[in-house]
Amino acid sequence: MNQQVILEGRYLWRDAAGRVIETPEEMFWRVARAVAAAEARFGADSKTVAAWAERFFALMAALDFLPNSPTLINAGRQGGQLAACFVLPVEDSIEAIFETLKQTALIHKSGGGTGFDFSRLRPKGDPVQSTGGVASGPVSFMRIFNAATEEVKQGGVRRGANMGILRVDHPDIFGFVACKEKEGEMRNFNISVAVTEEFFGAYAADKDFPLRFGGRVYRSVPARELFDYIVAHAHATGEPGLLFLDAVNRANPTPALGRIEATNPCGEQPLLPYESCNLGSVNLAQMVKERSVDWEKLRTVVRDAVRFLDDVVEVNSFPVPAIAAATRRTRKVGLGVMGWADLLFLLRIPYDSEAALQLAAELMGFIRAEARAASRQLASERGTFPAWDKSVYYPDLPLRNATLTTIAPTGSISGIAGVSSGIEPVFALSYTRTVFDRKKLLVVNKPFLAYLAANFPEAQREAILNAVYRNGTLEGVTELPPEDRAIFKTALEIAPEWHLRMQAAFQQATDNAVSKTINLPETATQADVAAIFRAAHALGLKGLTVYRTGSRKDQPLALPANC
Ligand code: CDP
Repeated sequence: MNQQVILEGRYLWRDAAGRVIETPEEMFWRVARAVAAAEARFGADSKTVAAWAERFFALMAALDFLPNSPTLINAGRQGGQLAACFVLPVEDSIEAIFETLKQTALIHKSGGGTGFDFSRLRPKGDPVQSTGGVASGPVSFMRIFNAATEEVKQGGVRRGANMGILRVDHPDIFGFVACKEKEGEMRNFNISVAVTEEFFGAYAADKDFPLRFGGRVYRSVPARELFDYIVAHAHATGEPGLLFLDAVNRANPTPALGRIEATNPCGEQPLLPYESCNLGSVNLAQMVKERSVDWEKLRTVVRDAVRFLDDVVEVNSFPVPAIAAATRRTRKVGLGVMGWADLLFLLRIPYDSEAALQLAAELMGFIRAEARAASRQLASERGTFPAWDKSVYYPDLPLRNATLTTIAPTGSISGIAGVSSGIEPVFALSYTRTVFDRKKLLVVNKPFLAYLAANFPEAQREAILNAVYRNGTLEGVTELPPEDRAIFKTALEIAPEWHLRMQAAFQQATDNAVSKTINLPETATQADVAAIFRAAHALGLKGLTVYRTGSRKDQPLALPANC
C-alpha cells in the first residue's frame, strides 16, 4: 500500500495526460532490461542478456536490493541519467561558475544531487582585476546556485539537492557557517565545513589558526573561537555538518588523480570533481533466516548487486562529457544497506549494544569483501577501471570499480521496500508519513508488529498498539518485559554516543562514507555538540551530521533538509 503510493508519486511512468502506464512489476522489468543491456557490450548473447535481466528483476521485485531513485525513474528512457551523486568543480571565474551552474541544472533535472567545494572562490571584498570591482565571495555565489535549484525543481523529477562545502581555513568561513542561520535561507543546500588535522591540532593546542587564500594569510583567529562558532550553529540549526578532509583523502583510492574536496548532498559519497556515482542498497530485513543473518543469501545478493551497479555505469547517459569521462575513469559504485534497525529488531539485538556494533562491523566487512570479489571477477571479464594502474589497489588487487561501498540515507527507496532507512534506528515505531506534500500514511514498524503477533493475544496487542500510536514509542507501555523494551528503542531513546559508534562501526568497512544523523534531545547543550565533534574526529569518521530535536521545522524523517 505504502509502496504503491510512493511509486505512483514519482517512479511509475505516465503518459502525456498524466495517467500511470506501468505497474511496479513492469517498472522493475523496465529497469532490469535497461541495465542488463550492458551485458551485450561485453559479448553476451541475447539469451544471456535476458537471463541477467531476469536475475536483476528478481533482485528488485523481491525487494532484496534497490538501486538509487534516478535509476528506478530514468532507466529505459532515451538519455536516461541513472546516478544520484555528483561533485562539480567551482573555479574562481565568472565563466567557470556559470558553466558549473548550468551543469548543475542539467543534473538536477535528471534527479541527481550535486556537491561543491566553494573554497577556490576568492573571499568577499577581494579585488576583481578585470572590472576594478570587488568579489562577492563564496556565500553570494551559493545563493545563485540555491535560487537556480529552486526554479529547476519545478520541471525536474525531484527536488534538487546540493552540498555546499567551505574549507575551515577560508577567510569567509564565519559567513559561510552562518549562511543558514535564518530558517528557510539556502534551503536547497546542506552545508558542511571541511575541517583539517591542522585545524584540530590548533584547537587541541588552543592556538590561533590562520585563515588564508591564494597563499596569503588574511587573518588569524583563535581555533577555539571558530570551533565554538561552528558548534553553536550546528546546535541551533543542525548545520553545518563536518567533512573530515584528511580522513576522506587517506581513503582516496586514486590520489594520483587529485585530492577529494567535496561530497554529494547527503555526505555519503566523496568524489573527485566531475565524478558521479550510482548507489544501491541491500535490504537487510530480508537477509534473515531463523533469527540469524542469512549469509549465503547476502553473498548472492551483494554479488548480483555489484554487477548491476557496474552495468549502470555502462548504460548511463551522462549529462556532460566531462562527467562521462571522469566517471568512466574510476567507475565508482556505492553499495550499501537499508533496514539495519529492522534487522536488529528481527534478531532481537538492541541498537545500543556492543553486540550490534560487532554485527555491524562483521556484516559490512562481509559486504565489502563480497563486493570486492564480485568487482574482481568483473575486472577479469571486462577489464579493470581505466585508472587502476594509478590507484592504491595496483598491482595486487585488480578491480572493476575504484570504490564499492557507500551507506546512503535511502530516504525514498527504504519507503519502497517498507523498511527502516539506511543504518538509522527507527524514528518511531509508528508514525504518519507525508509523501509528496500531500498524502499522509500511517506506518507501523513491521518487525515490531510481527513481534507483537508472536507474543501477545489480540486484545493485548491492540492495547499496546494504541499506546504506541500516541507518541511512537513504548513509553508508558508496561506489557513488554524489560529485555524486549530495550530492543524496540527509537532514535531519540538511543544515546548520541551509540549513534556515533554505530556510524564508526559501518565506516570501518565502507569505501566511501556513511550517511547518518546523530540525533540529540532538545535539551542537549553546545558542550554536548562539541564533545560529539571531537569524538567523531577521534573515531576517524569522514563526516558528521547532528540534529537536535526541534532545531529545524522542515525536517522530514530526521534526515538532512534536502533529502
Ligand atoms: O532513496 P533514494 O535513492 O531516493 O536516495 P537517498 O539514499 O535518500 O539519497 C542518496 C543521494 O541521492 C543523496 O545523497 C543525493 O545525492 C541524492 N538525492 C538528491 O539529489 N535529491 C533528493 N531529493 C534526494 C536524494
